[in-house]
Amino acid sequence: MASLLLLLLAPAASAVPFIVLHGIGDQCANHGVAKFTRLLADWSSSDGYCLEIGTGTWDSWIMPLQKQADIVCNKVKEMKELSNGYNIVGLSQGNLIGRAVVEYCDDGPPVKNFISLGGPHAGTASVPLCGSGVFCILADSLIKLEIYSDYVQAHLAPSGYLKIPTDITDYLKGCRFLPKLNNEMPGARNATYKERFSSLENLVLIMFQDDAVLIPRETAWFGYYPDGAFDPVLPPQKTKLYEEDWIGLKTLDDGGRVKFVSVAGGHLGISQSDMRKYIVPYLKGKEKNIDSAASVWRANREAPVLVLKGGHDDVVL
Ligand SMILES: *[C@@H]1O[C@H](CO)[C@@H](O)[C@H](O)[C@H]1NC(C)=O
Repeated sequence: MASLLLLLLAPAASAVPFIVLHGIGDQCANHGVAKFTRLLADWSSSDGYCLEIGTGTWDSWIMPLQKQADIVCNKVKEMKELSNGYNIVGLSQGNLIGRAVVEYCDDGPPVKNFISLGGPHAGTASVPLCGSGVFCILADSLIKLEIYSDYVQAHLAPSGYLKIPTDITDYLKGCRFLPKLNNEMPGARNATYKERFSSLENLVLIMFQDDAVLIPRETAWFGYYPDGAFDPVLPPQKTKLYEEDWIGLKTLDDGGRVKFVSVAGGHLGISQSDMRKYIVPYLKGKEKNIDSAASVWRANREAPVLVLKGGHDDVVL
């Protein structure tokens, strides 16, 4: 009887908590990301929190990513629930904010597992897919102005990770966010960022086989174009970031802590079975049971049931 009572009194959620960082044009109150967070929390018996930044949708577009990351850093430090460590689940642009928290957030609680869905980790070579909404008209005209100008960098979040392979000089000079995050600046690499990033327990990089938003889709695995050309797409292990280990990706990979996962579907269109297979085990802390075939391209015909979209038109990133 006593043990039954103890069982009943035990907290339902004993696993490490996680936070979800949504993508551009999205917000925590939207149905898709709310359901995504709830399902992961239910299936893993852990507490999940979607952390909002400013006003959500609007700020995801116009607030520079460094500022977005500072907001998240302050929030995670204030949340008592996270003080013993937590996991990050990033969606698209949210992955760069999450990575900035891992690398820059001084005195923040430790991040254990980082699960990335469709993250533009190595940059993206194209403007986000836009429809005819007011956001897109604004974004398009800003970008045409000059993406690496101070003005655009200060007013359009995705300009912080637009990396035009044929314009690397301007990118390194003018792009305020990604060159620093990826320790790309020759002579200005910060060993602390590498040390913090390589202390993750696991880094799960989920790429969508039909991703038409990230250019190239392999950026979700840190694959990218070589400097100066739009082809070929280099696999992650052939990039300088990996070979010279600027942020610790190679260190993590050598330690067997990077999972390169490829799933069927378009950008962020993940099926519930793939969520259970590739995300939930890391949230439960039972990642040893994970299917070791995860890194192999899979022919999964199942239709995605969750497409995490922003609330606006066809804006997804
Ligand atoms: C590297 O980053 C850490 C953490 O943000 C900071 O304390 C340190 O001053 C930086 N080092 C250099 C050389 O910029």
